[in-house]
Amino acid sequence: MAGRICVLASGSGSLLQALIDSPLRASIIAVGADRPHVQALMRAESVGIDTFIVDPRGYADRHDWDEALAARLVALRPDLVVSAGFMRILGPRVVGTFRGRLINTHPALLPAFPGAHAVRDALSYGVTITGSTVHYIDEGVDTGPIIAQRAVEIVPGDDESSLHERIKIAERELLVSVVTELMSDRKEEGA
Ligand code: GRF
Repeated sequence: MAGRICVLASGSGSLLQALIDSPLRASIIAVGADRPHVQALMRAESVGIDTFIVDPRGYADRHDWDEALAARLVALRPDLVVSAGFMRILGPRVVGTFRGRLINTHPALLPAFPGAHAVRDALSYGVTITGSTVHYIDEGVDTGPIIAQRAVEIVPGDDESSLHERIKIAERELLVSVVTELMSDRKEEGA
């Protein structure tokens, strides 16, 4: 599939792997992380995808980090930037530059349970259904326009880890289908 996708990830990168294992693989031009030695980078390197790191610890403040990440992304000329388990809030320069081409996957049914502890928060609230959301990124924390959602039932005996693993199965499928659709819409628009 034609097009240029850049993926941002911070952790184990199983969502990234789902993209790599799909026909979208050919469009993934780079994977970026906010720190070295994360498994997501290794997953990309092992299939020959370029990687980069923009580590906030290397910058004076959040503003400088935001500018550096934006510059890095601009240089890659992506059609779509996918935050797939990137555990940082993107700054105004990145969001402003890529608005409408910048999406995130979140392990809850937004607007319920935004933030970094969505799975734990859903469990402790006592909801019986949670899930995953793919949304455009805006300046807020998990507040951007929703693109697609998938529900996941909470079953008796679930703990944070078992529930998160089940949500991630839904997240992977949803992310691949949303990114596929966005990239093919782009193609139809003649971009
Ligand atoms: C996903 O649930 C994502 O929504 C959350 O962190 C998890 C990343 O999983 N922000 P992985 O690193 O891709 O396995």
